Amino acid sequence: MAFETIIVEIEDHVALIKLDRPDALNALNSQLAQELCIALEDADTNDKVRCIVITGSDKAFAAGADIKEMSEMSFVDVYSSNLFGALNDRVCAIRKPIIAAVAGYALGGGCELAMLCDFIIAADTAKFGQPEINLGVIAGLGGSQRLTRFVGKSKSMDMNLTGRFMDAEEAERSGLVSRVVPAKKLMEEAMGAAQKIAEKSQLSAMAAKEAVNRSYELPLGEGMLFERRVFHSMFATEDQKEGMAAFLEKRAAQFRDK
Ligand code: CAA
Repeated sequence: MAFETIIVEIEDHVALIKLDRPDALNALNSQLAQELCIALEDADTNDKVRCIVITGSDKAFAAGADIKEMSEMSFVDVYSSNLFGALNDRVCAIRKPIIAAVAGYALGGGCELAMLCDFIIAADTAKFGQPEINLGVIAGLGGSQRLTRFVGKSKSMDMNLTGRFMDAEEAERSGLVSRVVPAKKLMEEAMGAAQKIAEKSQLSAMAAKEAVNRSYELPLGEGMLFERRVFHSMFATEDQKEGMAAFLEKRAAQFRDK
């Protein structure tokens, strides 16, 4: 399918999805949201893809939901279309690992999209924020929920109530992003991380993603049980035999996703 708001490249088992609405700082309009979901679902079912990276431009990962598109919408419009419900649910349903490579602004829906990914690698130019309060609304794609789990109540309240931006250093210190690198190195770092993931057994990578994500939904005891049962189930795979044999034989493992 030909996309107009994103660019998709597949190289060395990594699908790179670049948000591409430069005139609107990659604001998430309905077309971009739809195209992004299709690209993610294509990557998820493409055997050649083992990891996904979502990025934007040097200036903006995404400056939020498209304010122009939303400005005249009524409650009935957004409630009946369940605005942002499908984007949230369809990104959450992707089973392959997704890395967000963020430079510049990641605001509102942009910050929330980054948080929907499995982890965030940030350029030192990145700026995160939930400024929806300045528009007379609140976050609608996880800014009051996921951000609070990442950075804690006090900082999340601060961001959601004042609308202030957090720079990359503060975002790393607060646990929102996993690493910060110089802007020039962002894509090298993100693609390198994706390559590393692509080398693992897909079964282990998907199971690890599933287990970490369950930690957000379950009490500790239930989460520990879920993890242990998935860990046990990995012993039914050929990749477990191969991974452990390779370690003992001091050679690189050749995983076959079986
Ligand atoms: N929606 C639509 N267009 C946007 C946009 C957005 N979220 N953010 C920026 N743009 C557009 C601007 O309107 C401008 O277009 P024109 O040249 O046609 O006027 C262009 O992108 C460049 O933007 P600026 O001139 O404003 O650039 P700047 O460098 O001066 O400022 C900025 C950059 C601080 C990111 C500023 O653009 C800004 O504050 N943007 C809005 C951020 C925001 O409020 N995001 C939350 C949206 S609501 C939401 O996301 C809800 C949700 O939870 C899902």
